[in-house]
Amino acid sequence: MPPKCLQLENINPNFIAMEYAVRGPLVIRAGEIEKELERGMKKPFDQVIRANTGDCQATGQQPLTFLRQLLTLTLEPRLLDSPDYPEDVKKRARLILDSCYGHSVGSYTESAGLEVVRRQVAAFIERRDECIPSDWQNIYLTAGATPGIKSILSLINCQLGGKTPGVMVPIPQYPLYSATIAEYAMVKVDYYLEEETGWSLNRKELQRSYCECQQHCNPRALVVINPGNPTGQVLTRDNIVEIIKFAYDNQLLLLADEVYQDNVYDKNSKFYSFKKVMHEMGEPYRSQELVSFLSTSKGYLGECGLRGGYMEVINMCPQVKAMLTKSITAGLCSNTIGQVAVSALVNPPQPGEPSYERYVCEKNATLASLKERAELVHKTLSGFEGYKVNPVQGAMYIFPQIEIPPKAIAAAKDKNMAPDAFYAFELLESSGICIVPGSGFGQKPGTYHFRSTILPQTDKLKLMMEKFRVFHDEFIKKYK
Ligand SMILES: Cc1ncc(COP(=O)(O)O)c(C=O)c1O
Repeated sequence: MPPKCLQLENINPNFIAMEYAVRGPLVIRAGEIEKELERGMKKPFDQVIRANTGDCQATGQQPLTFLRQLLTLTLEPRLLDSPDYPEDVKKRARLILDSCYGHSVGSYTESAGLEVVRRQVAAFIERRDECIPSDWQNIYLTAGATPGIKSILSLINCQLGGKTPGVMVPIPQYPLYSATIAEYAMVKVDYYLEEETGWSLNRKELQRSYCECQQHCNPRALVVINPGNPTGQVLTRDNIVEIIKFAYDNQLLLLADEVYQDNVYDKNSKFYSFKKVMHEMGEPYRSQELVSFLSTSKGYLGECGLRGGYMEVINMCPQVKAMLTKSITAGLCSNTIGQVAVSALVNPPQPGEPSYERYVCEKNATLASLKERAELVHKTLSGFEGYKVNPVQGAMYIFPQIEIPPKAIAAAKDKNMAPDAFYAFELLESSGICIVPGSGFGQKPGTYHFRSTILPQTDKLKLMMEKFRVFHDEFIKKYK
């Protein structure tokens, strides 16, 4: 047999460099353990509890009836005659089908997505931001937020004066950013969120990170995740003002990852969109270049697998925007099912329509349950010896700082593992709970964390918290 034409030595080295912790070695091991349990292997637990990924429906969240009905009717238009579907859903399905070529969601759409849905998105943003105008031609429908984020990072990937482009990302960060920056051979410029003040962000730290990176790269963009993943904080309006000023003063493109905008649980926190704050600040900040992202994967929909999302591109030079559009056109269009899901997100039933009551009831129940789980996880973990835990103000995660005893650090070193990965592996093997070590997201040197989702349903979450407590007590006893 001749050697394979593709070898590790001759493929794109950026593929080897990139890492994606949320689906890393721990998650692979969790999958193996599930198979071992199926084969009847004896373990100190009978199930794996996956608290590693923000996949809402995988952990039992129910889909919204309205959204699924809209999908059903657009996929199977013969059901438009069925008395089993409410008239308001039928009306919406017809509107979408009328704007599809051949009246079918099986056809390609315009590359930025169906005009009718883009217009619905713009109207939704105007309602959300209390009448600040949104131009539907600034809206690009995307297959989840991910491809939008990747296409913007790709757009700015340009060597200038011999320097590689840099992207400022919060630490801890969501690993899509580190993975994509590595894939595109750009430079990740870390700025640290301040754990002691609830993962807030300050201008001094932005400035430090910006200045220090100048020697080895050319910073082009600033990423902000609000509400935060993995940190669960909701930025204050003052914080957002500071960030906008900083981006403007340093000519950085702002990427506002706002996929968790509906996931705010803390009664003292409120979501402010970057667009709205920028607008309220007036000129010159109102002209800041901004791209903001939303997705059907999060919020109260949790439709991760449908792959729906959009980005709003604001104040971009028209010639550059034309290049962005061209590159998106080369990918034909985002999947139409995701586009229908976006339509359901931004154009929900209104008071007086037949689907309204049920829609509101289901939406509120999902959000109330998420809030309850956010509080439960925070309350429980705060009681663990050696833990420092900020509250889950929003999003779907908690990111506690853990004290790992020196003996455990030494044991991790013997196994050539990061101490937090060692902790997470021990937790998985002894209790079946799968979390992600903090090193996958980035953390201040010398500190250890992990990320857990709040997503298992309440009963399972209570069980998980109890198993976690038992594990932690034993871990501390063993290594103290
Ligand atoms: C902060 C953040 N941005 C973007 C995404 C990507 O989500 P999707 O591509 O499913 O919309 C996620 C997913 O977890 C996320 O947490």
